[in-house]
Amino acid sequence: MDRSQLASNTKELLVEAEGPVGVITLNRPAALNALNHSIMEAMVEALEDFERAPSIRSIVIAGSAKAFAAGADIKEMEKATVAEMSRDPHLSRWDRVGKCPKPLIAAVSGFALGGGCELAMACDLIVASETAVFGQPEIMIGVIPGAGGTQRLTRIVGKTLAMEMILAGRRLSARGALAHGLVNRVVPVESFLDEAKKLAHEIAAQPPIAVRMAKEAVLKALDMDLDTGLAFERKLFYSLFDTEDQKEGMRAFMEKRAARFIGK
Ligand code: CAA
Repeated sequence: MDRSQLASNTKELLVEAEGPVGVITLNRPAALNALNHSIMEAMVEALEDFERAPSIRSIVIAGSAKAFAAGADIKEMEKATVAEMSRDPHLSRWDRVGKCPKPLIAAVSGFALGGGCELAMACDLIVASETAVFGQPEIMIGVIPGAGGTQRLTRIVGKTLAMEMILAGRRLSARGALAHGLVNRVVPVESFLDEAKKLAHEIAAQPPIAVRMAKEAVLKALDMDLDTGLAFERKLFYSLFDTEDQKEGMRAFMEKRAARFIGK
């Protein structure tokens, strides 16, 4: 997949493929990557491009060293009415990110606030730099999180900490985020993007159909009762025995060699 195939590549959102890994970079430094309509529209387009491309097996969403994203764009919302906000598709774009069937890895450094924190949480894994700061400070500007913060943050860190972050605007450092299970790892700021890409390449080397099903099953665990979730998992497990990658994976194990997965 080359850059010319990526219609979603704009000045404020850089989109490229590095072999099997799609990389989407927020590039609005003057506004600390505040997520306005055009940047989120381009984000959804980029994800759709990558979802359609069989060669892409995992996706990194990154900001800069200074800011992953400082939230939804306050300047775009300030004067809006209830009617305007409720017919506006903007917040549903975060839902769309969360529905991406391919694995998403957020590479977070600096501010991940409001919609920025919500964007990171809509991803499947988060690699954070030592300077990362997570928060849902919407209460301080007269609103509440609107792109999943009250739901996803509570599911990840639990009610107690979520309440403090959402009611009092308390921020969480990278180390705090690691201690509370919000991020997968904390790495030096110089290497956060490389580490996120490395993780994305590790996942991209796995059989893609099994990866997709594994992601679906883990996400279902958050909103299914145990018996229903176990039955769902079992069906997906059985269905993988219809794939060439299952045959190859198990044969390679028996023959003591590395498997060559083809995504079928
Ligand atoms: N929207 C629009 N512009 C933003 C922004 C945002 N969320 N965050 C930062 N910016 C802009 C600033 O307005 C400023 O632009 P100007 O130079 O044109 O004034 C520029 O980015 C740099 O910001 P600061 O000068 O404020 O930088 P700082 O280093 O002093 O502070 C900060 C950094 C603590 C992140 C501060 O910018 C801040 O508090 N930003 C807002 C954070 C926030 O409230 N986010 C939630 C937004 S609402 C939301 O996300 C709802 C939802 O659930 C989807």
